[in-house]
Amino acid sequence: MNFLRNCWYMAAWGSDIGPDALIPVTILDEPIVIYRKQDNTLAALEDRCCHRLVPLSVGRKEADEVRCMYHGIKFAADGRCTEIPGQDRISPAVRVRSYPAVERHGAVWLWMGVPDMADEALIPPIIGPDNPEWAVMASCMEIQANAQLIVDNVLDLSHAPYVHEASFGGGDETTIKTQIRGESGVQVTELERGVQTMRWHLDRPSNPYTGDLNSDDLVMSQILAPGIFILKIRVYKPGVQQRPMDEHGVPLEEPLFARTTCQMITPVSDQHSKFFFTFGPSAALAHAREDFFRVGEQAFREDKAIIEEQQRLINRTPNPRMMMLAMDVPVIRYNKIHERLLEQEATTQGVA
Ligand code: FES
Ligand SMILES: [Fe+2]
Repeated sequence: MNFLRNCWYMAAWGSDIGPDALIPVTILDEPIVIYRKQDNTLAALEDRCCHRLVPLSVGRKEADEVRCMYHGIKFAADGRCTEIPGQDRISPAVRVRSYPAVERHGAVWLWMGVPDMADEALIPPIIGPDNPEWAVMASCMEIQANAQLIVDNVLDLSHAPYVHEASFGGGDETTIKTQIRGESGVQVTELERGVQTMRWHLDRPSNPYTGDLNSDDLVMSQILAPGIFILKIRVYKPGVQQRPMDEHGVPLEEPLFARTTCQMITPVSDQHSKFFFTFGPSAALAHAREDFFRVGEQAFREDKAIIEEQQRLINRTPNPRMMMLAMDVPVIRYNKIHERLLEQEATTQGVA
């Protein structure tokens, strides 16, 4: 897969970057060190001293700068060299790359493309652990597979009844039928950098949080380049479609509760990805956040297992080719947008 560069990739949770730490990460096969400056904002540098290629992440943070602990060369947060021990003149060629880095929604975002094109308005609007309206918990899994396989999995709901039989209990017949019915009424909106969908799952089986009522669930999702999935489900008392709605078809009444998951896929290298995720209910159910999260985490472990099996088999298959079926429409739709963004990038001069 060709990876997009002119976009924000999630590199870590903000809480993973302590005030004194030098945190090494790899994104698109590039070693990067992330740290906090004294004003608590982030800096991200190529994690490779230009002198003799030693990781700066095993160096020393000194105020807003990093010193390589092999021969003591020091770099500022913009990548400039500010000190070479025993040498007065510093050539401007002595520098490391720096990456635009922003902390938002409790997450650390790095811009991997042309620095001048970094646009904070493009940071995906995920629901992070800092959002007071929600009670989400956040985590990360390493998946030994190409990011594309994970994006495909996230987009395709048809795997849920089989892969998630144990976690979401998706295997019973009512649920499968409800999902298929829901699919037929899906409202799709293409965005500049992704796809937004809205669908109803009517008459869902009751659960501990709906007070023994079946429910009508409004499922809203966004998939955004380079692999960010945002899902919100609002759970209503049955028959909600007969009650007042706004012009977008969203009920005016408050839902019984809502739940959300966001999934951020970051390619580490060709066959290794990071899968950051949140899972949880709306703030009113904060006391149940761990129960929600546990189910979500188990489901993502199920996804990881099957995707890694898939990747292993793909690697053993000469000239691997996949087949597209009716259930793959969302995958095809997003992949087209991804292709278009890649083409746009190829024609933008100066992509590093
Ligand atoms: S390798 Fe970094 S200072 Fe020499
Ligand atoms: Fe899944």
